Amino acid sequence: MSYRFYAACPIDEVPDGSKRRVVVEGYEVCIFNVGGTLYASGDPCPHERVSLGDGGSLDGETLTCGAHRWQFNVRTGACLDDPGFQLRTHPVGRKDGTIYVGFRDEED
Ligand code: FES
Repeated sequence: MSYRFYAACPIDEVPDGSKRRVVVEGYEVCIFNVGGTLYASGDPCPHERVSLGDGGSLDGETLTCGAHRWQFNVRTGACLDDPGFQLRTHPVGRKDGTIYVGFRDEED
């Protein structure tokens, strides 16, 4: 499986312990900084599509959605409230102070 990486935002816009919603190549993505390790997922909550970046909270790897308080692991994408739901995660890279988010190559 290969990915194409696109610039998302400067690293200093997502300090340790924070999250940020960004639009990358037309897709809404949420970037998380957990102790200096960066993760990314689709921004709309898989429950009822409320923005994960604009509300809720991040505590370690645990993201709490601001709408109905469901929790997700931002590293694995697992939903802690209902295993039938899953965050769509993306690989993350960094270079020269910029965060890059990977999307699966359409040829895969
Ligand atoms: S929209 Fe996120 S928990 Fe309901």
